[in-house]
Amino acid sequence: MTPRQIMMHKVYGYFTTSCLSVVCKLELADHIGNSICSIEELADLTRCNENSLYRMMHFLSSQDIFVEEDNRKFRNNSLSEVLKKTSESSINSYCQGHGSQLYWESWRNLEHSIRTGEPATKSAFGVDAFEYMKSDPETASTFNKTMDDLATADANVIQKYYDFSKFNTVADIGGGSGKLLSFIINDNPKIKGILFDQPHVVQNTFSPNITNQFEVVAGDFLSDIPVISDLYILRHILHDWDDERCHQILSLLRERMPKHAKLLVIELLVNKDSTLSTAKYQDLNMLVMMNGGRERSIQQFENMGIKAGFKLCQVIPLPTEMNIIEFQPI
Ligand SMILES: C[S@@+](CC[C@H](N)C(=O)[O-])C[C@H]1O[C@@H](n2cnc3c(N)ncnc32)[C@H](O)[C@@H]1O
Repeated sequence: MTPRQIMMHKVYGYFTTSCLSVVCKLELADHIGNSICSIEELADLTRCNENSLYRMMHFLSSQDIFVEEDNRKFRNNSLSEVLKKTSESSINSYCQGHGSQLYWESWRNLEHSIRTGEPATKSAFGVDAFEYMKSDPETASTFNKTMDDLATADANVIQKYYDFSKFNTVADIGGGSGKLLSFIINDNPKIKGILFDQPHVVQNTFSPNITNQFEVVAGDFLSDIPVISDLYILRHILHDWDDERCHQILSLLRERMPKHAKLLVIELLVNKDSTLSTAKYQDLNMLVMMNGGRERSIQQFENMGIKAGFKLCQVIPLPTEMNIIEFQPI
Protein backbone atom coordinates (compact mmCIF):
# COMPACT_ATOMS: atom_id res chain seq x y z
CA MET A 1 0.00 0.00 0.00
CA THR A 2 1.13 3.54 -0.64
CA PRO A 3 1.50 5.96 2.32
CA ARG A 4 -1.67 7.66 1.07
CA GLN A 5 -3.64 4.39 1.18
CA ILE A 6 -2.23 3.52 4.61
CA MET A 7 -3.31 6.89 5.94
CA MET A 8 -6.76 6.55 4.38
CA HIS A 9 -7.22 3.20 6.10
CA LYS A 10 -6.21 4.79 9.40
CA VAL A 11 -8.74 7.56 8.98
CA TYR A 12 -11.43 4.94 8.33
CA GLY A 13 -10.73 3.52 11.80
CA TYR A 14 -14.08 4.60 13.16
CA PHE A 15 -15.88 2.44 10.55
CA THR A 16 -14.44 -0.60 12.32
CA THR A 17 -15.34 0.75 15.78
CA SER A 18 -18.92 1.22 14.65
CA CYS A 19 -19.12 -2.24 13.02
CA LEU A 20 -17.75 -3.90 16.18
CA SER A 21 -20.31 -2.15 18.31
CA VAL A 22 -23.14 -3.39 16.04
CA VAL A 23 -21.72 -6.93 15.80
CA CYS A 24 -21.66 -7.10 19.61
CA LYS A 25 -25.13 -5.66 20.02
CA LEU A 26 -26.48 -8.26 17.54
CA GLU A 27 -24.43 -10.98 19.30
CA LEU A 28 -23.25 -12.27 15.91
CA ALA A 29 -20.23 -14.12 17.30
CA ASP A 30 -22.49 -15.88 19.82
CA HIS A 31 -25.00 -16.82 17.09
CA ILE A 32 -22.22 -18.34 15.00
CA GLY A 33 -20.79 -20.22 18.00
CA ASN A 34 -18.72 -23.22 16.92
CA SER A 35 -20.52 -23.69 13.62
CA ILE A 36 -20.44 -22.15 10.15
CA CYS A 37 -23.44 -19.89 9.52
CA SER A 38 -24.82 -18.62 6.27
CA ILE A 39 -25.62 -14.93 6.02
CA GLU A 40 -29.31 -15.88 5.56
CA GLU A 41 -29.32 -17.65 8.92
CA LEU A 42 -27.58 -14.73 10.62
CA ALA A 43 -29.97 -12.22 9.07
CA ASP A 44 -32.92 -14.34 10.21
CA LEU A 45 -31.62 -14.71 13.74
CA THR A 46 -30.89 -10.99 14.13
CA ARG A 47 -33.81 -9.70 12.01
CA CYS A 48 -31.43 -7.67 9.84
CA ASN A 49 -31.16 -6.82 6.17
CA GLU A 50 -29.26 -9.75 4.63
CA ASN A 51 -27.22 -7.75 2.11
CA SER A 52 -26.24 -5.03 4.57
CA LEU A 53 -25.23 -7.65 7.12
CA TYR A 54 -23.16 -9.44 4.48
CA ARG A 55 -21.33 -6.25 3.49
CA MET A 56 -20.42 -5.56 7.12
CA MET A 57 -19.25 -9.16 7.78
CA HIS A 58 -17.31 -9.21 4.48
CA PHE A 59 -15.56 -5.97 5.53
CA LEU A 60 -14.71 -7.31 8.98
CA SER A 61 -13.42 -10.66 7.75
CA SER A 62 -11.06 -8.75 5.44
CA GLN A 63 -9.54 -7.50 8.72
CA ASP A 64 -9.31 -11.07 10.10
CA ILE A 65 -12.34 -10.59 12.34
CA PHE A 66 -14.45 -13.71 11.47
CA VAL A 67 -13.54 -16.02 8.59
CA GLU A 68 -15.58 -15.88 5.40
CA GLU A 69 -16.10 -19.30 3.79
CA ASP A 70 -17.59 -20.04 0.36
CA ASN A 71 -21.23 -19.13 -0.37
CA ARG A 72 -21.44 -16.19 2.04
CA LYS A 73 -20.89 -18.32 5.16
CA PHE A 74 -18.98 -17.20 8.24
CA ARG A 75 -17.24 -18.81 11.19
CA ASN A 76 -15.50 -17.49 14.27
CA ASN A 77 -11.75 -17.19 14.67
CA SER A 78 -9.57 -16.12 17.60
CA LEU A 79 -10.38 -12.41 17.12
CA SER A 80 -14.15 -12.75 16.75
CA GLU A 81 -14.19 -15.24 19.66
CA VAL A 82 -13.62 -12.40 22.19
CA LEU A 83 -16.71 -10.61 20.83
CA LYS A 84 -18.89 -13.43 22.19
CA LYS A 85 -20.83 -12.45 25.31
CA THR A 86 -19.99 -15.86 26.74
CA SER A 87 -16.24 -15.77 26.09
CA GLU A 88 -13.99 -15.81 29.18
CA SER A 89 -12.10 -12.83 27.78
CA SER A 90 -15.19 -11.16 26.31
CA ILE A 91 -15.06 -7.52 25.20
CA ASN A 92 -18.69 -7.57 24.00
CA SER A 93 -19.91 -4.84 26.38
CA TYR A 94 -16.66 -2.94 25.94
CA CYS A 95 -17.28 -2.70 22.17
CA GLN A 96 -20.90 -1.67 22.72
CA GLY A 97 -19.75 1.01 25.17
CA HIS A 98 -17.41 2.44 22.55
CA GLY A 99 -20.39 2.74 20.22
CA SER A 100 -22.43 4.70 22.77
CA GLN A 101 -23.40 8.34 22.38
CA LEU A 102 -21.17 9.22 25.36
CA TYR A 103 -18.03 7.99 23.55
CA TRP A 104 -18.90 9.18 20.04
CA GLU A 105 -19.96 12.68 21.00
CA SER A 106 -16.97 13.03 23.33
CA TRP A 107 -14.44 11.91 20.72
CA ARG A 108 -16.09 14.09 18.07
CA ASN A 109 -15.08 17.01 20.31
CA LEU A 110 -11.41 15.97 20.66
CA GLU A 111 -10.29 19.32 19.25
CA HIS A 112 -11.72 21.02 22.35
CA SER A 113 -9.45 18.90 24.60
CA ILE A 114 -6.41 19.52 22.44
CA ARG A 115 -6.98 23.29 22.40
CA THR A 116 -7.99 23.77 26.04
CA GLY A 117 -6.85 20.71 28.04
CA GLU A 118 -10.45 20.25 29.23
CA PRO A 119 -12.48 17.05 28.72
CA ALA A 120 -14.18 16.94 25.32
CA THR A 121 -17.08 15.25 27.12
CA LYS A 122 -17.64 18.53 28.97
CA SER A 123 -17.81 20.45 25.72
CA ALA A 124 -20.26 17.86 24.29
CA PHE A 125 -22.51 17.39 27.32
CA GLY A 126 -21.62 20.19 29.75
CA VAL A 127 -20.23 17.73 32.35
CA ASP A 128 -17.50 15.07 32.52
CA ALA A 129 -18.25 11.36 32.01
CA PHE A 130 -19.00 10.47 35.67
CA GLU A 131 -21.37 13.43 36.07
CA TYR A 132 -23.06 12.55 32.77
CA MET A 133 -23.69 8.98 33.92
CA LYS A 134 -25.42 10.12 37.12
CA SER A 135 -28.35 11.32 34.99
CA ASP A 136 -28.27 8.60 32.33
CA PRO A 137 -28.84 5.15 33.90
CA GLU A 138 -28.67 3.34 30.55
CA THR A 139 -25.21 4.71 29.74
CA ALA A 140 -24.12 4.11 33.33
CA SER A 141 -25.21 0.48 33.06
CA THR A 142 -23.37 0.04 29.70
CA PHE A 143 -20.27 1.67 31.24
CA ASN A 144 -20.39 -0.63 34.27
CA LYS A 145 -20.67 -3.63 31.95
CA THR A 146 -17.64 -2.42 29.95
CA MET A 147 -15.70 -2.16 33.22
CA ASP A 148 -16.89 -5.69 34.08
CA ASP A 149 -15.43 -6.98 30.80
CA LEU A 150 -12.05 -5.58 31.80
CA ALA A 151 -12.38 -6.68 35.44
CA THR A 152 -13.24 -10.24 34.42
CA ALA A 153 -10.13 -10.55 32.24
CA ASP A 154 -7.99 -9.12 35.04
CA ALA A 155 -9.66 -11.13 37.80
CA ASN A 156 -8.82 -14.34 35.98
CA VAL A 157 -5.10 -13.55 36.20
CA ILE A 158 -4.81 -11.30 39.30
CA GLN A 159 -5.27 -14.24 41.67
CA LYS A 160 -2.42 -16.13 40.03
CA TYR A 161 -0.10 -13.17 40.60
CA TYR A 162 -1.18 -11.95 44.06
CA ASP A 163 -1.89 -13.95 47.21
CA PHE A 164 -5.17 -12.70 48.72
CA SER A 165 -5.51 -15.62 51.15
CA LYS A 166 -3.51 -13.82 53.88
CA PHE A 167 -6.16 -11.09 54.27
CA ASN A 168 -9.41 -11.20 56.30
CA THR A 169 -11.05 -8.25 54.55
CA VAL A 170 -10.61 -6.82 51.06
CA ALA A 171 -12.17 -3.47 50.14
CA ASP A 172 -12.60 -2.46 46.50
CA ILE A 173 -12.82 1.34 46.46
CA GLY A 174 -14.71 2.54 43.38
CA GLY A 175 -15.29 -1.17 42.74
CA GLY A 176 -18.19 -0.62 40.30
CA SER A 177 -20.47 -3.64 40.16
CA GLY A 178 -18.17 -5.71 42.40
CA LYS A 179 -17.03 -8.11 39.72
CA LEU A 180 -13.37 -8.24 40.78
CA LEU A 181 -14.30 -8.51 44.46
CA SER A 182 -16.70 -11.38 43.84
CA PHE A 183 -13.95 -13.30 41.98
CA ILE A 184 -11.59 -12.78 44.94
CA ILE A 185 -14.24 -13.87 47.45
CA ASN A 186 -15.25 -16.91 45.44
CA ASP A 187 -11.66 -18.10 45.42
CA ASN A 188 -11.03 -17.19 49.07
CA PRO A 189 -14.22 -18.03 50.98
CA LYS A 190 -12.80 -16.79 54.31
CA ILE A 191 -12.40 -13.22 53.04
CA LYS A 192 -15.04 -10.58 53.71
CA GLY A 193 -15.43 -8.18 50.77
CA ILE A 194 -16.37 -4.51 51.05
CA LEU A 195 -17.56 -2.73 47.92
CA PHE A 196 -17.41 1.07 48.02
CA ASP A 197 -18.83 3.18 45.18
CA GLN A 198 -21.26 5.97 44.41
CA PRO A 199 -24.90 5.48 45.53
CA HIS A 200 -26.33 5.22 41.99
CA VAL A 201 -23.72 2.55 41.13
CA VAL A 202 -24.04 0.33 44.20
CA GLN A 203 -27.83 0.34 43.85
CA ASN A 204 -27.34 -1.84 40.77
CA THR A 205 -24.65 -3.98 42.34
CA PHE A 206 -23.87 -7.31 40.81
CA SER A 207 -25.22 -9.97 43.16
CA PRO A 208 -22.53 -12.53 43.94
CA ASN A 209 -24.86 -14.87 45.92
CA ILE A 210 -22.58 -14.68 48.93
CA THR A 211 -24.20 -11.74 50.67
CA ASN A 212 -22.90 -12.41 54.18
CA GLN A 213 -19.37 -12.13 52.78
CA PHE A 214 -20.11 -8.95 50.89
CA GLU A 215 -20.73 -5.53 52.43
CA VAL A 216 -21.77 -2.63 50.21
CA VAL A 217 -20.93 0.95 51.23
CA ALA A 218 -22.21 3.94 49.24
CA GLY A 219 -20.23 7.16 49.34
CA ASP A 220 -17.96 9.68 47.68
CA PHE A 221 -14.26 8.86 47.77
CA LEU A 222 -13.42 12.55 47.37
CA SER A 223 -15.12 13.32 50.73
CA ASP A 224 -14.57 10.34 53.04
CA ILE A 225 -13.79 6.64 52.72
CA PRO A 226 -15.31 5.17 55.90
CA VAL A 227 -13.99 1.65 55.32
CA ILE A 228 -11.67 -0.35 57.59
CA SER A 229 -9.96 -3.27 55.87
CA ASP A 230 -6.71 -5.28 55.66
CA LEU A 231 -6.40 -4.73 51.94
CA TYR A 232 -7.68 -1.90 49.74
CA ILE A 233 -7.93 -2.02 45.96
CA LEU A 234 -8.04 1.02 43.66
CA ARG A 235 -8.41 -0.47 40.20
CA HIS A 236 -8.77 1.90 37.25
CA ILE A 237 -9.51 4.75 39.68
CA LEU A 238 -6.49 7.06 39.88
CA HIS A 239 -6.23 7.31 36.08
CA ASP A 240 -9.63 9.06 36.07
CA TRP A 241 -8.38 12.02 38.13
CA ASP A 242 -5.83 14.84 38.17
CA ASP A 243 -2.89 14.77 40.63
CA GLU A 244 -4.70 16.93 43.16
CA ARG A 245 -7.74 14.70 43.39
CA CYS A 246 -5.61 11.53 43.37
CA HIS A 247 -3.83 12.99 46.40
CA GLN A 248 -7.21 13.64 48.02
CA ILE A 249 -8.34 10.02 47.46
CA LEU A 250 -5.04 8.55 48.68
CA SER A 251 -4.92 10.83 51.75
CA LEU A 252 -8.52 10.02 52.73
CA LEU A 253 -7.73 6.33 52.36
CA ARG A 254 -4.54 6.69 54.38
CA GLU A 255 -6.47 8.41 57.22
CA ARG A 256 -8.80 5.42 57.72
CA MET A 257 -6.34 2.67 56.88
CA PRO A 258 -4.93 0.47 59.69
CA LYS A 259 -1.11 0.53 59.94
CA HIS A 260 -0.77 -3.15 58.89
CA ALA A 261 -2.99 -2.79 55.80
CA LYS A 262 -1.88 -2.86 52.17
CA LEU A 263 -3.09 -0.89 49.16
CA LEU A 264 -3.14 -2.26 45.60
CA VAL A 265 -3.31 0.34 42.85
CA ILE A 266 -4.10 -1.58 39.66
CA GLU A 267 -3.41 0.49 36.54
CA LEU A 268 -1.77 0.61 33.14
CA LEU A 269 1.71 2.17 33.15
CA VAL A 270 3.06 4.57 30.55
CA ASN A 271 6.66 4.52 29.51
CA LYS A 272 8.64 6.84 27.29
CA ASP A 273 9.22 4.52 24.33
CA SER A 274 7.40 5.02 21.04
CA THR A 275 5.70 1.60 20.80
CA LEU A 276 1.90 1.60 20.61
CA SER A 277 0.31 0.31 23.82
CA THR A 278 -3.08 0.24 25.50
CA ALA A 279 -1.75 2.88 27.93
CA LYS A 280 -1.26 5.31 25.04
CA TYR A 281 -4.85 4.77 23.81
CA GLN A 282 -6.22 5.09 27.33
CA ASP A 283 -4.18 8.19 28.10
CA LEU A 284 -5.97 9.97 25.24
CA ASN A 285 -9.31 8.54 26.29
CA MET A 286 -8.79 9.97 29.78
CA LEU A 287 -7.95 13.36 28.25
CA VAL A 288 -11.18 13.28 26.24
CA MET A 289 -13.58 11.98 28.89
CA MET A 290 -12.27 12.77 32.34
CA ASN A 291 -11.53 15.99 34.19
CA GLY A 292 -7.72 15.77 34.52
CA GLY A 293 -7.56 11.98 34.04
CA ARG A 294 -4.34 10.50 32.61
CA GLU A 295 -2.23 7.37 32.52
CA ARG A 296 0.96 7.60 34.60
CA SER A 297 4.44 6.13 34.91
CA ILE A 298 5.59 4.09 37.90
CA GLN A 299 7.67 7.07 39.09
CA GLN A 300 4.56 9.26 39.10
CA PHE A 301 2.63 6.68 41.13
CA GLU A 302 5.51 6.25 43.56
CA ASN A 303 5.78 10.03 44.13
CA MET A 304 2.04 10.31 44.55
CA GLY A 305 2.12 7.50 47.12
CA ILE A 306 4.97 9.07 49.12
CA LYS A 307 3.16 12.43 49.21
CA ALA A 308 0.08 10.75 50.74
CA GLY A 309 2.08 8.69 53.27
CA PHE A 310 2.66 5.40 51.43
CA LYS A 311 5.75 3.38 50.57
CA LEU A 312 5.93 1.46 47.28
CA CYS A 313 6.44 -2.26 48.05
CA GLN A 314 6.37 -3.98 44.66
CA VAL A 315 5.10 -3.77 41.07
CA ILE A 316 3.64 -6.90 39.49
CA PRO A 317 3.03 -6.66 35.72
CA LEU A 318 0.02 -8.70 34.54
CA PRO A 319 -0.37 -10.32 31.11
CA THR A 320 -3.41 -8.04 30.54
CA GLU A 321 -1.01 -5.02 30.39
CA MET A 322 -2.33 -3.90 33.81
CA ASN A 323 0.02 -3.75 36.82
CA ILE A 324 -0.49 -4.43 40.50
CA ILE A 325 1.30 -1.63 42.37
CA GLU A 326 1.47 -2.55 46.05
CA PHE A 327 1.82 0.16 48.72
CA GLN A 328 1.87 0.16 52.50
CA PRO A 329 1.44 3.04 54.95
CA ILE A 330 4.74 4.62 56.05
C1 LIG B 1 -13.23 3.39 35.71
S1 LIG B 1 -14.41 2.78 36.84
C2 LIG B 1 -13.54 1.45 37.63
C3 LIG B 1 -14.45 0.44 38.26
C4 LIG B 1 -13.73 -0.76 38.90
N1 LIG B 1 -12.76 -0.34 39.90
C5 LIG B 1 -13.05 -1.59 37.84
O1 LIG B 1 -11.83 -1.63 37.80
O2 LIG B 1 -13.78 -2.23 37.06
C6 LIG B 1 -14.37 4.03 38.08
C7 LIG B 1 -15.30 3.78 39.25
O3 LIG B 1 -15.15 4.88 40.17
C8 LIG B 1 -16.44 5.19 40.68
N2 LIG B 1 -16.45 6.56 41.15
C9 LIG B 1 -16.32 7.70 40.42
N3 LIG B 1 -16.40 8.78 41.19
C10 LIG B 1 -16.56 8.33 42.46
C11 LIG B 1 -16.69 8.97 43.73
N4 LIG B 1 -16.64 10.31 43.82
N5 LIG B 1 -16.84 8.21 44.83
C12 LIG B 1 -16.88 6.84 44.73
N6 LIG B 1 -16.75 6.17 43.56
C13 LIG B 1 -16.61 6.91 42.45
C14 LIG B 1 -17.34 4.99 39.47
O4 LIG B 1 -18.70 4.86 39.85
C15 LIG B 1 -16.76 3.72 38.85
O5 LIG B 1 -17.35 2.56 39.36
